[in-house]
Amino acid sequence: MSLIDSLGRPLRDLRISVTDRCNFRCTYCMPKEIFGRDFPFLPRAELLSFEEIVRLARIFVPQGVEKIRLTGGEPLLRRDIEHLIAMLATIPGLHDLTLTTNGSLLPRKAEALKAAGLQRITVSLDSLDDAIFSSMNDVSFPVHKVLEGIDAADRAGLHPIKINMVVKRGVNDHQIIDMARHFRGSGHTLRFIEFMDVGNSNGWRLEHVVSADEITQALNALWPLEPVAPRYSGEVAQRFRYVDGQGEIGIIASVTRSFCGGCTRARLSADGKLYTCLFAQKGHDFREALRRGATDAEIEEIVRSVWRPRADRYSDLRGQETTGLGKVEMSYIGG
Ligand code: GTP
Ligand code: 5AD
Ligand code: SF4
Ligand code: SF4
Repeated sequence: MSLIDSLGRPLRDLRISVTDRCNFRCTYCMPKEIFGRDFPFLPRAELLSFEEIVRLARIFVPQGVEKIRLTGGEPLLRRDIEHLIAMLATIPGLHDLTLTTNGSLLPRKAEALKAAGLQRITVSLDSLDDAIFSSMNDVSFPVHKVLEGIDAADRAGLHPIKINMVVKRGVNDHQIIDMARHFRGSGHTLRFIEFMDVGNSNGWRLEHVVSADEITQALNALWPLEPVAPRYSGEVAQRFRYVDGQGEIGIIASVTRSFCGGCTRARLSADGKLYTCLFAQKGHDFREALRRGATDAEIEEIVRSVWRPRADRYSDLRGQETTGLGKVEMSYIGG
């Protein structure tokens, strides 16, 4: 029997964070002042082991999960991540196995990820201009290395490749056209993401958000766009295609056009807590169940008892008053 929450939404996607660490310090995600030397990252013993992750995944898939996305922090920092991928890839009923990365380790890792059974990949890149990109990743990471990572993923066959650009007003909004020009005709899908008020530390203000409408209008003026039907119900990105046949773009408008109505996503943090919303304040501890020796049937019942009463629709309800609520950080829960 399929598992449906209190608003009629099935559980379809599981986003698994494999580490809360990252080698970047994107100002909108892990600002240096907070994620500095003294930041209490999770000690190794608190992370779920690969065996624990796979055991949970095997329990989640029969509950309706068809897609697993590995996230972080930066998931490729987790040692031997390809071993985890190889184990997940054998789960019957899992149709889509993918990963979101900053791309920095892809030149080294892309082939091994593909060989292990990763199907496709999403790479974050916020600008093609080194000065802007450096100011955003805040570790002076050069653009060309991310582009090399994307090429490595392409050669390895991790298709389709999506590129995520978080747009922040006054920071990289003037890069929208350059990014579109670069990725038009490349076969990769560039997705523009409205800057979101995740976590408590990124100083989010509504004025920083460049709306989906602004973005599509700017692009449409240069290269006419037409909407494309969603690939699955509740797809996060709204899709558009260039009328001249140069491919597709996506817009993720969590602020101006929220999509909670079709939200089928659960998030597992690196230490085994399950969150039923990106903006949740509290998660359900599955590591405790695993480590006290709960049976599969017991864990399955916990999954059902967490999902059934779910009523989250944070983005639909978003208002100025929701900042400062004690939400979990994006680098901990996975984007
Ligand atoms: P596809 O499987 O390729 O459709 O990917 P996706 O859009 O689910 O995943 P991705 O990791 O690329 O996420 C893109 C952006 O959308 C990130 O900024 C995410 O934080 C954001 N996002 C993904 N899921 C949700 C969600 O449930 N709620 C909100 N508010 N944002 C989300
Ligand atoms: N708003 C929107 N997107 C964000 N991401 C990280 N922090 C934010 C934020 N505050 C993006 C990353 C990555 C994806 C998983 O989430 O750039 O592409
Ligand atoms: Fe790292 Fe991604 Fe967060 Fe940037 S957005 S700090 S790359 S986890
Ligand atoms: Fe789902 Fe929460 Fe995002 Fe709404 S805000 S789409 S409920 S994760």
